Amino acid sequence: MYRADTTADEAAEITAFRRAEKKYKLYYEQSSKKFYRKKKPKQVDLSEVLDFNSILNSHNQNDELPPGIAAVRCGFDDRPVFRLETRPGFYFIPGALSVEEQCKWIRESLRSFPQPPNRTNHNAIYGPVGDLFVAAKEGKVLLEEEGSNGDGQKWRFCEEGVAKLRSKGNACKSVSGTALLRKLRWSTLGLQFDWSKRNYNVSLPHNKIPDALCELAQKLAAPAMPKGEEFHPEAAIVNYFGLGDTLGGHLDDMELDWSKPIVSMSLGCKAIFLLGGKSRDDPPLAMFLRSGDVVLMAGEARECFHGVPRIFIDEENAEIDSLETHFSEESHLLDYVRTSRININIRQVF
Ligand code: OGA
Ligand code: MN
Repeated sequence: MYRADTTADEAAEITAFRRAEKKYKLYYEQSSKKFYRKKKPKQVDLSEVLDFNSILNSHNQNDELPPGIAAVRCGFDDRPVFRLETRPGFYFIPGALSVEEQCKWIRESLRSFPQPPNRTNHNAIYGPVGDLFVAAKEGKVLLEEEGSNGDGQKWRFCEEGVAKLRSKGNACKSVSGTALLRKLRWSTLGLQFDWSKRNYNVSLPHNKIPDALCELAQKLAAPAMPKGEEFHPEAAIVNYFGLGDTLGGHLDDMELDWSKPIVSMSLGCKAIFLLGGKSRDDPPLAMFLRSGDVVLMAGEARECFHGVPRIFIDEENAEIDSLETHFSEESHLLDYVRTSRININIRQVF
């Protein structure tokens, strides 16, 4: 059956990957009542989505695994690591990160990873913007004002009251910190990835990946590493997803050595991940990614199209109860986490 929004003719032309993206993407019910405000998400059939949480449970309880899925011997911290027989080089580590670790990396992703010289999607419009999370928390407003040395217009955070006074009369542009935080889509750590050229720009100023993240990635990468070799994290892309945000099918092919894994950590709300084949015409496998899950893509799996068509923020599906408990005293983190997913993916570039 084709979806209602896709005619049979159109469906014949789109790829199998695109078809799966459309299947899982968030759509809303058309409301018949004119003034019914609250949009209702359309129900989607999740029966074909692989659930490594339940696979882990049945593996632990009775050593059973579904066909095509194998457990790797060299477990990570004694946790089982699963691989797919049809996708060599792909590894799934359910619950690899403890709740404490998840909270730590969520905090870092919001407070320190978007700090200059790391770049974010906001750079192109506003230049380097520091302390975004704190500014949002304190209700600050980003205002375009004259540079202090007469060096042109600059965007700076200021108190809401000050922003109101300044913008009175003159058509001064401004945007609230809260809106900017909600629209944060990516930040780049270590060697800076240039999204417009889809390549690394080594001439851009950058800091090394934080040691703790580097060490964690090396530990996590172990099941996918060629014998006797070491993983050297040089860059990371942090993706921030709000409701309705997606990551379209793509390959990460700008790194030199594809035998080295991409280490990809999921934080916050649950998502659907699509793992395709080497062609967009290969039907992808769908699987849930929960907070704390880690995926490794190395070797042949580096040539497989993949993407994220959906995140869930409703109580039943988001599965962030333990994060909510941990952030119960930090209302800004709690608010963010309840409606968002963060993905940190770490790469060796050279
Ligand atoms: C990426 C990516 C996957 C995810 O950023 O290249 O594939 O789980 N992310 O968000
Ligand atoms: Mn990717």
